[in-house]
Amino acid sequence: MVKTKTVFVCQSCGTQTPRWAGKCPNCASWNSLVEENIVPLAPGQRQTELMDRKPVRLKDVPSEEKARSMTGIAEFDRVIGGGIVSGSVTLVGGDPGIGKSTLMLQVVCQLSRQGLRVLYVSGEESVQQTKMRSDRLQADHENLFILNQVDLFVIREEIKQLNPDVVVIDSIQVLYLPDISSSPGSVSQVRECSSVLTHLAKSRGFSVFIIGHVTKEGLLAGPRVLEHIVDTVLYFEGERYTSYRILRGHKNRFGSTNEMGVFEMTSQGLQEVSNPSEIFLLERPQNASGSVVVPILEGTRPFLVEIQGLVSRSTFGIIRQKAQGFDANRLALLVAVLEKRLELNLQDKDIFLNVVGGVKIMDPAADLGVVLAVASAFLDRTVPYDTVILGEVGLSSEVRSVSQIALRLNEAAKLGFQRCLIPKNNMNGRHVIAKDAIEIIPVDSVREALEWVKDN
Ligand code: TYD
Ligand code: MG
Repeated sequence: MVKTKTVFVCQSCGTQTPRWAGKCPNCASWNSLVEENIVPLAPGQRQTELMDRKPVRLKDVPSEEKARSMTGIAEFDRVIGGGIVSGSVTLVGGDPGIGKSTLMLQVVCQLSRQGLRVLYVSGEESVQQTKMRSDRLQADHENLFILNQVDLFVIREEIKQLNPDVVVIDSIQVLYLPDISSSPGSVSQVRECSSVLTHLAKSRGFSVFIIGHVTKEGLLAGPRVLEHIVDTVLYFEGERYTSYRILRGHKNRFGSTNEMGVFEMTSQGLQEVSNPSEIFLLERPQNASGSVVVPILEGTRPFLVEIQGLVSRSTFGIIRQKAQGFDANRLALLVAVLEKRLELNLQDKDIFLNVVGGVKIMDPAADLGVVLAVASAFLDRTVPYDTVILGEVGLSSEVRSVSQIALRLNEAAKLGFQRCLIPKNNMNGRHVIAKDAIEIIPVDSVREALEWVKDN
């Protein structure tokens, strides 16, 4: 009889401790330690397949190009790095209700139409519910199989029988292995189930998509550990009450991670948005102070988003700074630059920033846009309607150069913008720019940019 060991596992970061504590010693989250049993492998009980592996010379290994299957959904194919690699394991994370099941059903439907055999394991919804969804999406095919099951051993047997090319697990949080005593969704279950699936996928050569729900804090419930096991991590995000959804690569062993795909949730499922700039700027107000357009870059694709700032006098002496779609700490820093270096009196003001369309900006090139949105709202001066703003802002209020400027300017010109404020350093030879398409106004400090806004 193998002796089981009890440990306490943090459900948000996966740290194990021998004793319970109110606060996780690693990630400092409260009340996240849960008791779990660990059954150690008996001596001699090892995966025999792994024992057969011996070192080989790298140059003797035949190089093979991994086959990729394109889904035909361009927004998805690009994010996943140019098609699905056979034998790969992909984690699809996102808030509950955001559309992960819908997206995956549409993806596998496309794959099954191309002759791939697909098994969709739906642990959360009954076969009937999945059928209703697929009717709505007009997504069915004779190569698409549905299984309503949560026991991984049974699922494994079904996989061996059916021999599919693609498997979708919806979702990992309801799956369980009977020989682990903790409940489904706990870190141990999630981790073990994923590694069993990964092992199965690699040895049998099918691709797996694992759907996982994200907690309020933005962590995949429990498993940071999971991100190491899988090849690719995709996040499906967006505001639940707007119809746009963004698929973002977070890790990708087979391609770039910066790519993003934009979808719109409609009554017939998710539709691709191949020109997001137009949609994000559709309802842009004319002559409104605090509204600024910036050409940001996600992976290889530039697009324009509107940033809105609002500054109001705060009540009760408690100031608030809130940012939607932009890092709140970065906003605080940029506001401090405006206060300290440009002597704008923002101390007793509430400051709100919103990125339109549910986009989350990571690109530092949007800094100057954010600064001008706040300053323009504060001073009640509009930034000209035909102008886009580019530049990273440093702590001494200098405007720093940005990458891929030609790509960004071309996108702005394509959408009819006439002028662009760009960092002066982008003007020197290193960065080639398309000068004639759009008028360029080089600036090298926030003050200079603000003066220009005041004069125009
Ligand atoms: P779902 O894929 O079930 O979300 P998740 O798997 O991430 O929890 O999506 C659920 C939402 O999508 C739900 O609010 C209804 C909406 N929806 C549509 O608007 N149109 C559709 O065609 C479908 C299938 C769902
Ligand atoms: Mg779902």
